Amino acid sequence: MRKPLIFPTFRRMGESHNRGKAWGGRFRQATDPAVERFSASIHFDRALARHDVRGSIAHARMLGRAGLISADDAEALVAGLRLVLEEIQADRFPFDPAAEDIHMNVEARLHELAGPVAGRLHTGRSRNDQVATDLLLFLRDAAGAVRRGIGELRGVLVEQGREHLDTILPGYTHLQRAQPVRLAHHWLAYVEMLGRDATRFADAAARFSLAPLGSGALAGSTLPLDREDTAAALGFEGPSRNSLDSVASRDAALEFLAAAAICMVNLSRLAEELVLWSSSEFGFVELSDAYSTGSSLMPQKKNPDVPELVRGKTGRVVGDLMALLVTMKGLPLAYNRDLQEDKEPLFDAVHTLRDCLEVLAGAVATLRVDVARMRAAAEDPMLLATDLAEILVREGVPFREAHEAVGRVVGHCVEKDLDLRSLSGEDLKAFHAAFPGSAAELLDLERSIEARSLTGGTARATVETALARAEEALGAESAVLDALDARDEETGR
Ligand code: ARG
Repeated sequence: MRKPLIFPTFRRMGESHNRGKAWGGRFRQATDPAVERFSASIHFDRALARHDVRGSIAHARMLGRAGLISADDAEALVAGLRLVLEEIQADRFPFDPAAEDIHMNVEARLHELAGPVAGRLHTGRSRNDQVATDLLLFLRDAAGAVRRGIGELRGVLVEQGREHLDTILPGYTHLQRAQPVRLAHHWLAYVEMLGRDATRFADAAARFSLAPLGSGALAGSTLPLDREDTAAALGFEGPSRNSLDSVASRDAALEFLAAAAICMVNLSRLAEELVLWSSSEFGFVELSDAYSTGSSLMPQKKNPDVPELVRGKTGRVVGDLMALLVTMKGLPLAYNRDLQEDKEPLFDAVHTLRDCLEVLAGAVATLRVDVARMRAAAEDPMLLATDLAEILVREGVPFREAHEAVGRVVGHCVEKDLDLRSLSGEDLKAFHAAFPGSAAELLDLERSIEARSLTGGTARATVETALARAEEALGAESAVLDALDARDEETGR
């Protein structure tokens, strides 16, 4: 169950038909069309439309309850806003570039639909506390959606792990074959990384919890607004504690972007392994046709564009974080128009991350694994050299001495082009008297893997337990997300 987020079509708005409406009674001259184009945000902040209307409905109800407007007016405002919401959801809201941003677009449309009562909606409110509220509502939705996406990818990795519990491949360090591991163990590494990513979004969401509404432009309001009321109606824990902070801060968005950037960096590593592994040099996996592309020139090519793009888009999301960090740096309190620049990087990051999670889940789910080829690479007896040293340690040899002796054994095999397993007990004893048998007796791939049964290791039973734990954690995460959705449903998303 995925929540729809409305994403902007990044289209340059043309000159508006009814431009020149100066803002308020103070102005004698119309805004220059270039300035109007330059400062308008409707072509991207329309992504906040649902959240904006939701905030306005809560605000209108509160105004009625607090006696700041009549009950009839409150009802008329809510009814009108509902019509606006319907238009937004049905994708027939007439976004008007002349009305600058989403807040003024909604209010202008409310005027058309509900009449002059619309003039009462903005009582005790500024676009500054309004946009800060919208943004937190958006972030809450986005964090939930991203957590769902992460959960889906983790689920696919766990399924692949179940299927490949007994598939063995070399584990790598420095991209050199190091020690054999189960493919399930390898996939589970990403399940862990992505699990931490999901908790980063959950942690950040704990700081989306105080409602800015009622902070006004910067210093609150002289009107007796009920801040607790709007906060509760919108599913916040309560009203924010400082009006200046509420309208001037964007660290919630920064934190989301930081979590998104880290998550993308993790995805880029999985993506890079899919690129490497699908090369003829490795030949470990083949991407399904649905998740790869051909070359316009070379008929034999099957290119891993999907993981390559995930790898590439990581730069973009890291850039989104940098863009907002630099925008915020040194901004004096309280609201400054610079803050409007928070939205495009944020929307871009949410949109990019969700897409990447989705396509990677598809690519991994449909991946064909060349089990035999992985196994053949893991059969390299040199991968068991560490085991040989640890056998000596069990015989009471200090590890450094064992490492040195096995190093000489390996050097000998390389020099004489010998298979490590061909060395007899006598051969080995020439390198260290404590070797308790022939290499063929001492070294066995299955036994080596099974011996790695410490928590977090790659033995079969250990990995099976890890898979079961991951499945349990995924079930719990999905139940938490369902509960959050239910709460949002209740507070009239
Ligand atoms: N579009 C503006 C933004 O995104 C809304 C707030 C405008 N406030 C103002 N004082 N001009 O930040």
